[in-house]
Amino acid sequence: MRKLWQRVCMSALIVGSSILVHAWADPIVIKFSHVVADTTPKGQGALLFKQLAEERLPGEVQVEVYPNSSLYGDGQEMDALLVGDVHILAPSLAKFEHFQKKIQLFDLPFLFDDMAAVDRFQQSDAGKSLLTSMEDKGITGLGYWHNGLKQLSANKALKTPRDARGLKFRVQNSAVLDEQFKALRANPRKMAFSEMYQGLQTGVVNGAENPYTNIYSQKIHEVQDYITESNHGVLDYMLITNTDFWNGLPEHVRDTLTDIIAEVTVEVNNQANALNERDKQSILDAGTTEIIYLTPEERDAWRKAVQPVWEKFQGQVGADLIEAALQANNPDTE
Ligand code: LMR
Repeated sequence: MRKLWQRVCMSALIVGSSILVHAWADPIVIKFSHVVADTTPKGQGALLFKQLAEERLPGEVQVEVYPNSSLYGDGQEMDALLVGDVHILAPSLAKFEHFQKKIQLFDLPFLFDDMAAVDRFQQSDAGKSLLTSMEDKGITGLGYWHNGLKQLSANKALKTPRDARGLKFRVQNSAVLDEQFKALRANPRKMAFSEMYQGLQTGVVNGAENPYTNIYSQKIHEVQDYITESNHGVLDYMLITNTDFWNGLPEHVRDTLTDIIAEVTVEVNNQANALNERDKQSILDAGTTEIIYLTPEERDAWRKAVQPVWEKFQGQVGADLIEAALQANNPDTE
């Protein structure tokens, strides 16, 4: 009896002191930095991640979300992740070429028929293998988040590929996107996301390519008279973390965060299309910008004009990966 009582007292002491440790230990601070607005799919996903992490790991984890390039912008955020100044990012898939050339796949124009195909590819073995392909460089992929398909915008109506000739287009820091506009005999200018509005406003560039959520939240429609609904490429994200940071988390924290990320990923990917539709409607309501719709024949002319880009990057991306992506256009491959 005395032994049992001693054991009860001992376990009470252990539980009590572990509560005290939790109460006194500083929470693990997770900084999540990104370049877009809170209203976009990525912005919403970051906030949901914060909410669920702090609800399910109270006092253990604190998530700080920095939207709109408020902590780090393009060109700085990857370095900040590698040195551990931020812990989670979700750069667009166009921004990985210095770490993994295969990810350039996603920038190939007219590769995927629609977002369902993008989704099928991302969930395939080939798609998932890219998430772990940068661990030797200190980057672990935690999942893919959708934004959506990109639309061309300009101050001139873009109906045929010829209309883009000679115009200056803002591009993300991507060799593939650079070549895409060169194939149209246009002039690509690599520019940070946060500088795009001003670039368009001052005429440093005349056009851009963005999904509707980025157009609306950055007020791009206010400085662009036309949007061509080209759906010519995808702008999606890889949610990434610093590999050492992630592996160094207490196991139960990492497991709980992994579950939360899986949940948030489903939510972001289910909502992304609706958010783009919402923002397309807001652009129409604003009355600033005409949206041009292409016939299948007109869209095909754009496809043909940029097709040479595929060949240029086939060596770096790999013919097998391009084939796997094309397979995903067929719903029966699920
Ligand atoms: C861009 O630079 O256009 C995008 O990568 C921004 C974003 O994160 O959606």
